[in-house]
Formats: sequence, C-alpha cells, structure tokens
Amino acid sequence: MQKIHAAITAVGGYVPEYVLTNAELEKMVDTNDEWITTRTGIKERRILKGEGLGTSDMATKAVEQLLSKRGIDPMEIELVICATTTPDMQFPATANVISDKVGMKNAFGYDVNAACCSFLYALTTGAQFIETGKYKKVVVIGGDKMSSIMNYEDRATCIIFGDGAGAVLLEPNTEGNGVMDSILRSDGAGRAYLHQKAGGSVKPATVETVMNKEHFVYQEGQTVFKFAVKNMADVSAEIMERNKLASEDVAWLVPHQANLRIISATGERMGVPEEKVMINIQKYGNTTNGTLPLCLWEWESKLKKGDNLILAAFGGGFTWGATYLRWAYDGQ
Ligand code: UT7
Repeated sequence: MQKIHAAITAVGGYVPEYVLTNAELEKMVDTNDEWITTRTGIKERRILKGEGLGTSDMATKAVEQLLSKRGIDPMEIELVICATTTPDMQFPATANVISDKVGMKNAFGYDVNAACCSFLYALTTGAQFIETGKYKKVVVIGGDKMSSIMNYEDRATCIIFGDGAGAVLLEPNTEGNGVMDSILRSDGAGRAYLHQKAGGSVKPATVETVMNKEHFVYQEGQTVFKFAVKNMADVSAEIMERNKLASEDVAWLVPHQANLRIISATGERMGVPEEKVMINIQKYGNTTNGTLPLCLWEWESKLKKGDNLILAAFGGGFTWGATYLRWAYDGQ
C-alpha cells in the first residue's frame, strides 16, 4: 500500500489593513528608516486595529478564505491546530474560538506554543494525524497579534514585529507529495534571551507588572541573532542532507521572516539563490507564527506540483526546526 503523506491542498491568509511604516515609527521612537532597513530588511508591518479584535479574528478570515478556495464545508473539518504566541486569552484555546467563529463544529482543536516555531511544530503534528489514515481534513493555522505584546516605547523590539495569520488545509496524498520530513529542536536554556516576563503562573499580572511593562516582548537581540543564524542554517542543511537533496533540487526556501540577514545566511548555507527564497519581511515584518503560512499564501500561484520546499524557523525557547515538503498542486 502507498504511504499516506499529509499534503497541503489549500492556503488562506489575512493581514490587517493598517500599515505601520518606518516613517511613522520614526515619530514614535528614536529610530530611522535607514537603521531599520539595513539591520532587519523591514519597511512596514501591518497592525490589527479595533477594540476586541484578536488573533482569532485574523485566523478566522484566513480559514474562511481557505475553505472557500477548496470549496469545502466547515463541518467537514475534523481537527484545528492553532500555532500562536498571542492567544485570544490564556484559555480556552484560540483553536476553539476559531472553530466556533468559522462553524467547524465537528472539529476538535488545540493550540501549540513554541514561540516563532509553533507553525512548524503544528504542521508536523497535524501531518501525523493525517498519516495515521484516520483523519482526512486537518486545518493548521499560524497567526499572531504581536502588537498586543509590543512596547511601542522600546525601539529594539517595536520596529520588528507585525500582525497577521495564515492557514493551510492538510489532506491525505498517496502520490508521494506532502510533508516528507521534519527536524524539530528546542533548548529551554535560551528562554532568558526572549520571553514575556509577566502574565504567566510564575508572575501573574499585578498593577506593578503592568507599570513595569513586563507584559511586553523582552528580547536580547544580538544573542538571539547569533543562535538564530547558526541554528536555522544548520537545521536546513541537515534536512537537505538527510533527504539527499542538493541545492538545485530545492524549488523554494520558506524561511521565518525575523531578519533579512538571518534569511540570507540560511539561503547561502543551503546554496539556494535569492530568487528561490520567499521574502516578504519588507511588507509584514515578523508576524511570528504568521510568517510561514503567509509566505505560502503569497507564493501559492507560483508553486508547482512536485516542487521541493524547505520551511525553516527559529524562535523563543529557543525553538528551531525545518520541514521538507513536496508541494501537491499547481498554482493558478
Ligand atoms: O523571531 C524570533 C527570533 N528573533 C530574532 O531572530 C531576532 C534576532 N535579532 C535581530 O534580528 C537583531 O539583533 C535586531 C534587529 C533585534 C537588532 O539588530 P543588531 O544589529 O543586533 O543591533 P544591536 O542590538 O546590536 O544594536 C546596535 C545599536 C545599539 O546602539 P549602541 O549600543 O551601539 O549605541 C542599539 O541601541 O543600535 C541601537 N538600536 C537602534 N538604533 C536605531 C537598537 N534598536 C534601534 C533602532 N533604531 N530601532
């Protein structure tokens, strides 16, 4: 019997309308377009404005688009996995909120949090449900409203992040296309360099934690950068080697969009030229778990059945990983 792979059969995406440009950030903090562009590659990012709107609202739009593209009813979805670092609330899971908003009433769902790497962890987990043969339609979402945990007085972080969400549908494939392999890693010792200080069980929210701005992203950028450059490149090279893929076999590198310099280093290490690297960091910044599905969403029309894609990410935790995916349909 042919092995069942989990293939992506549709992609949806959503970015909020509001564009926060480098010029606008220049008025908010002591920074400038030249510094942001040369250090990160970012020109603008999207921000979700509006009272009472959260990650689930962007994800709902992405999933609705995906279902309509594939022409399937929400009631057909069996499982929803939401990769996010900015859930609507601590509990219940944002996956449940999205299922309710979209009408995926037959699905069970849960969230995966591995910081910027959550989408890769969720994709790998979702694929395994399909590979068992028991599940036929699994939705994997990656999305974050990073503006909800951003200190817009901290120039070292607020220039980097943006809001957005993407979603993919996984279905069984017996033609040899789909998720082929994943290497996922983590090292909790890295948590010191990138985290949110308060709001969890160790340091619940108090007036003091709010006054001390401890509910925002804390990042020691240089240290994270060093680990990200090395680990994202290493794991991408490792997955190519393990699957006997030469540079010319890779149709697309789909990298986490944290910093253009990290993306370039990964591409160089893999021997993949820039024209085969999906880059949209200049428009959206770092949307954390939105980056990978939003790349697939934007490049979908260019992808061909049988294309070899390498997805790679690095994030807080530390967490990092790479997934080798063989694309299952021709873009229109
Ligand atoms: O997605 C999750 C994983 N995260 C990452 O992968 C992020 C990894 N880190 C990075 O991308 C980079 O470290 C940053 C973009 C965050 C920072 O770039 P950098 O080249 O590492 O800069 P730096 O932190 O070493 O700062 C250099 C200088 C400092 O000034 P002094 O001490 O040299 O006088 C900073 O205070 O740049 C200053 N600086 C800024 N200047 C203008 C920091 N932020 C800004 C700013 N505008 N926005």
